[in-house]
Amino acid sequence: MNHLIVYASKHGTVKKAADILRFQLKGSCELHNILEEESVYLSDVDTVIIGASVYFGSIHKKLKQFLENYEEVLLQKRVAIFICAGEENPESLQKEIEDNFPLSFRNHAHPIEVIGYEIHFNQLNFIEKFIIKNVKNIQEDKEKLCEFAIFQFARALNM
Ligand SMILES: Cc1cc2nc3c(=O)[nH]c(=O)nc-3n(C[C@H](O)[C@H](O)[C@H](O)COP(=O)(O)O)c2cc1C
Repeated sequence: MNHLIVYASKHGTVKKAADILRFQLKGSCELHNILEEESVYLSDVDTVIIGASVYFGSIHKKLKQFLENYEEVLLQKRVAIFICAGEENPESLQKEIEDNFPLSFRNHAHPIEVIGYEIHFNQLNFIEKFIIKNVKNIQEDKEKLCEFAIFQFARALNM
């Protein structure tokens, strides 16, 4: 089984999760950073895993573009989605998923899991810091990436 994780990671959480996940999957698993290279070779791939994070309600526009450009081929392959997101209200989290992933993907992809998040103040720019402190009311670093959620995600894919 050939897996490919296509991901966008602004401050490294999604990349960290992808690095953990790849070694838990049966078969081969390559990583593709969509922020570095927008064209993706999918012919030899059985399972495409999308790794996304949410900023101000949205996943990265290059990842959205990838889903749009490759929709036809993706819907013919096995697809799974993991998301790093700090939103803790389940309804708001569900809305973020619905706003960012078209119904065609939500119906096709399995699993779709939110696997936690991290925030490190030393990585944030001035505006990000301001919003995190004053809008999200977070005052210190957060390390809430959930390794158990990654393990469960891998287990579902290995079935
Ligand atoms: C400025 C800023 C805005 C964020 N906005 C949201 C948001 O709207 N919804 C959400 O669920 N998480 C939000 N987050 C949390 C990120 O999704 C989380 O930090 C994630 O781990 C980032 O992953 P990355 O470093 O791989 O990009 C935000 C984080 C930052 C720093």
